Amino acid sequence: MTVTRRPLIAGNWKMNGLSGDGLALAEELARRIEDSADPDFDLLICPPFTLIQRVGAALAESTIALGGQDCHAAESGAHTGDISAAMLADAGCSHVIVGHSERRADHAETDAWVRAKAGAARAAGLVAVICIGETEAQRDGGETTTVVARQLAASLPDGATAENTVIAYEPVWAIGTGRTPSVTEVEAVHALIRGDLAQRLGDDEAARLRVLYGGSVKPGNARELMSLTDVDGALVGGASLHADDFWSIAQSSA
Ligand code: 13P
Repeated sequence: MTVTRRPLIAGNWKMNGLSGDGLALAEELARRIEDSADPDFDLLICPPFTLIQRVGAALAESTIALGGQDCHAAESGAHTGDISAAMLADAGCSHVIVGHSERRADHAETDAWVRAKAGAARAAGLVAVICIGETEAQRDGGETTTVVARQLAASLPDGATAENTVIAYEPVWAIGTGRTPSVTEVEAVHALIRGDLAQRLGDDEAARLRVLYGGSVKPGNARELMSLTDVDGALVGGASLHADDFWSIAQSSA
């Protein structure tokens, strides 16, 4: 049986957005999705923590999902500056990004830590968007597939399913650089991820689990990337800050 995976276009606003521009962007996207009859894609917005509740209010009547950009692995406690998965759920989130390469680099997050965060997200009823991807040095060293397979194996929590997990393949060197791997390279890595998921979760679950591509996705390259068999949407950084660009990427995925 062929499984159709509904594309997911996720906007990671990173450390961008104050109430003025952030809310205007969320409201504009809510308007567009409301005006489009039955779109063939899902949208997710991950604003900074400070805007989650207000963006959530702007999306209240909309089908656009709300996510955090990170969560702590613990349920609560003495972790100054951190946010738990339950807090995100309480603030209206349905998703959370974990293991983004910027957090792995800036906060020395290991695969084990990412796995614990994804487990915490699952326990709080959130969908974990688990990010994996090689650095430029690893790619130049011919280690892409080894690194991606290792990160996937070590970051995926027990109990991962197509309902509670999304994988985002984001080559670190493609993030914010305007460079992307060739479609053949993206295709090969996504096929590898799908194959590994099948071994871990079984064919049926792996066939339903969405695997996104991220790294310099723009209106100009989205259609080609989104047309690849095992690419089920995009995790978009810079272009998600502009309603026209994000919307155009979403439309390219359908
Ligand atoms: P850019 O789309 O700006 O390259 O960022 C990608 C990313 O890191 C999304 O999580």
